[in-house]
Amino acid sequence: MPTHVLAVAGAKGGVGKTTTSINLSASLAKRGANVVVVETDLAMANAVDFLKLDFNEETDPTLHEVLAGQAAVESAIYRAPGDIDILPSGVDLETYSAADPNALGPVVDKLKQRYDVIVLDTGAGLSRETLIPLGLADSSVIISTPRVASVRDAEKTIELASRVGGDVAGIMFTMSGTGRAPAPERIAQYLTVEYLGHVPEDDAVPSSQDSGRPVVVHASQSPAGKAYTGIADKLIGILTGRQPKPTQATATAQSDGGDEKEEFTRSGSSDQGGSDGSGIIPTVSDRPPHGSRD
Ligand SMILES: Nc1ncnc2c1ncn2[C@@H]1O[C@H](COP(=O)(O)OP(=O)(O)O)[C@@H](O)[C@H]1O
Ligand SMILES: [Mg+2]
Repeated sequence: MPTHVLAVAGAKGGVGKTTTSINLSASLAKRGANVVVVETDLAMANAVDFLKLDFNEETDPTLHEVLAGQAAVESAIYRAPGDIDILPSGVDLETYSAADPNALGPVVDKLKQRYDVIVLDTGAGLSRETLIPLGLADSSVIISTPRVASVRDAEKTIELASRVGGDVAGIMFTMSGTGRAPAPERIAQYLTVEYLGHVPEDDAVPSSQDSGRPVVVHASQSPAGKAYTGIADKLIGILTGRQPKPTQATATAQSDGGDEKEEFTRSGSSDQGGSDGSGIIPTVSDRPPHGSRD
């Protein structure tokens, strides 16, 4: 069964890409997938702050050393709560400058030998560093808050993801339920991408991060925990081809007003491509189990 490479992207910083990468991964792991999160945000690493790992940030190898050709991929993979593996980025600016983003392709190829799903947590902005993981991904999940500035950046990310060849699996919203932003479903309709769901602003998220565990593990019945589980299940459905892509009819925005309606009028195309129909959750794993890596 082919590995699925999933990019978690959204040009605005602080919208929940890393939180989402970890929680979608842990949700997929609960469904039986063998998942690794690769923190491709090379400059602003923070995944290790959200997960309790057997990892010393002063001495242990990270993606920086791997991309600099100074460490083997396997040596920079750590087991994280939630039954996921993580290949974290480093926090050191010196090792950052030595890391070559072009080396990410071979790293992903290597990871394909042992994982069902490779989640690429991307950085903010639309620099080459972001473009590389988007180009490597089979599909991407776009992350945005329901706020205007974030949605604008999400729209650009969708365009870019389409341009570099990846399929946009859908958009999901984080930190919803505050302010006067339009309903997340409506924003997805304006952007004519599949709506995956929304994760409300929830104290369970930072408190889970403080405990070093994904919210779907630490507080699975919290609003955020349930939302991530539901989104992961929807994503599995889309990626395994069980659900149809949105038709033009379902993608047509309602015209029932809303304070920020004009702000979300689509300005560009978002070619979505089709599902490749490949399963991401193995029925019979043809990979070595955890702990038997070579
Ligand atoms: N649903 C949520 N409710 C409350 N806080 C959240 C939620 N999602 C993310 N956060 C917080 O937002 C901040 C930014 O999240 P992060 O995942 O690091 O974003 P990004 O990777 O896009 O920069 C973190 O401090 C995180 O705790
Ligand atoms: Mg991040």
